[in-house]
Amino acid sequence: MRTQVVIIGGGPSGLLLGQLLHKQGIEAVVLERKTREYVLGRIRAGVLETGLVHLMEEAGVANRLHKEGYVHDGTQIAFGGEMFHLDFMALTGTPVIVYGQTEVTRDLYDAREAAGARTEFEVDHVVIHDADSDKPHVTYEQNGQTKRIDCDFIAGCDGFHGVSRNTIPLNVRREYEKTYPFGWLGVLSETPPVHDELIYANSERGFALCSMRNENLSRYYIQCALSDHAEDWTDKAFWSELKHRIPDEIADKLVTGASIEKSIAPLRSFVTEPMRWGRLFLCGDAAHIVPPTGAKGLNTAASDVHYLYHGLVQHYHDKDSDGIDRYSEKALLRVWKAERFSWWFSGLLHRYPDMSEFDLKMQAADIAFLRDNEAQQRAFAENYVGLPY
Ligand code: FAD
Ligand code: DHB
Repeated sequence: MRTQVVIIGGGPSGLLLGQLLHKQGIEAVVLERKTREYVLGRIRAGVLETGLVHLMEEAGVANRLHKEGYVHDGTQIAFGGEMFHLDFMALTGTPVIVYGQTEVTRDLYDAREAAGARTEFEVDHVVIHDADSDKPHVTYEQNGQTKRIDCDFIAGCDGFHGVSRNTIPLNVRREYEKTYPFGWLGVLSETPPVHDELIYANSERGFALCSMRNENLSRYYIQCALSDHAEDWTDKAFWSELKHRIPDEIADKLVTGASIEKSIAPLRSFVTEPMRWGRLFLCGDAAHIVPPTGAKGLNTAASDVHYLYHGLVQHYHDKDSDGIDRYSEKALLRVWKAERFSWWFSGLLHRYPDMSEFDLKMQAADIAFLRDNEAQQRAFAENYVGLPY
């Protein structure tokens, strides 16, 4: 068979791109390795920039987000037993929206189904052929059969462990990576959030984050050792550790309960360049990873989708290839800024195993500067709510 764009990966990047293209009359097939239920079972990001919200609106899938999402005008930073507020609205005029990645993905799958757009689940051995020619195609296996789709373009939206990035030859591709000597242990619980804003905490015992999904669903994270296993952390041990890492007045209000999900994610900064090779375009985690501290993973995936979507529309509707020719350059400019912010914010809040007394003093001074200096607060808020596309 033939289509215009093959999208490899049915995560948020692939689905959002597919829905935006569909609205413009551009046909795309999504190939997803797992089942829909599996994809929707992954608990990941929770904070959306307004740029992503606007893309969801343009894709015609923002109704539930506007009804059920929570508008957050600011956030809290805790350090040394105290807490201060950063007011996004006063500093930038822009809020963020709390709405889970699971819900974003569910809304996109529902819209895709309603539109009758084609998604192939449980595909194996996806191989990209001739991406550096005018006639690329993709092969895959499904139910024991090998299938082929010819296309104009391929969008590699298959996450960090996908096949798309590795299709780009090593002599073309350059990778930049930083790993961190700790992970995040995350817990989801059917309990009311401890505060009406997110709390990012730097404590002597390590980082903690109090987040939420709705009035009876909370998401908490604590910095943990990379050698830890989620199943070895009892709920009791988790809640006790979290309480030690947040200010007393907040810990006293924390409502604990059984965890309904518990997992550990390693932290990594990673970028591959370029994000385009011939007719293959990388989008989202396939091209870059940020440590989750600034909530930039999903949002940076969305900005890639924005640039690629506009480039493809320009190609098909205006017969102008400038947008796709400059895709990699434009996307990477914003990617590196998100990498910088996520790296900086991670450094501000985590305890590294090898920190010297001097390093600790620098971290404390950096936090005090953020608390006391409006220009620094504005720079923080501009990055957190999302730099312009
Ligand atoms: P993905 O969501 O990874 O989607 C890729 C899709 O491609 C998947 O559905 C996968 O099954 C499919 N796929 C992979 N290989 C193939 C193949 N060969 N063929 C076909 N399909 C394939 N970001 C935040 O901002 N905050 C967070 O708290 C946060 N927590 C995270 C926790 C974890 C464990 C991880 C892994 C990421 C987290 N992120 C977080 C990052 C955020 O979730 C990602 O940036 C976002 O999911 C990127 O979307 P994507 O569509 O590019 O990639
Ligand atoms: C969440 C995750 C993040 O990485 C973050 O910075 C804020 C919120 C969350 O899962 O709610």
